[in-house]
Amino acid sequence: MTRKLSRRDFLKALNRFLAASGLAGILGTMVAYFYPPVLEEESSVPVSVVHISELGIDDSRKVAFGRYPGLVINTAEGLRAYKAVCTHFACIVSWNPDSGMIECPCHAGFFNPLDGSVISGPPPAPLRVLVIEIIDDWIFIKS
Ligand code: FES
Repeated sequence: MTRKLSRRDFLKALNRFLAASGLAGILGTMVAYFYPPVLEEESSVPVSVVHISELGIDDSRKVAFGRYPGLVINTAEGLRAYKAVCTHFACIVSWNPDSGMIECPCHAGFFNPLDGSVISGPPPAPLRVLVIEIIDDWIFIKS
């Protein structure tokens, strides 16, 4: 015995399906808002920065390195790499070749590009040093 679906029953079923789909979309968006994807604190794998021929003296590059960027500077004394996050209130720091310092724009924190130590300002600790590896003339950074 087969039951023929009336037009009214079909429209009711379609309406329920659309309401359930909409509710699922709203719930999915709410869950995504309250539980965003977690970025790892630091990259767990080496990150390629730039070909060594493209980084002149006093030049720098910032690259994604987990939650915060990594900063590579080609100083006159050689390559240096740091996690580019200020140890005061986690602002992103930048290399300033004119001043010769790594600078935090938030509260005028200044760091030494050779070892990441604090030169002046409120940062309580030096920048975190990252490891540099050169592979086939490419600069990589890692924890
Ligand atoms: S966050 Fe860098 S000096 Fe305050």
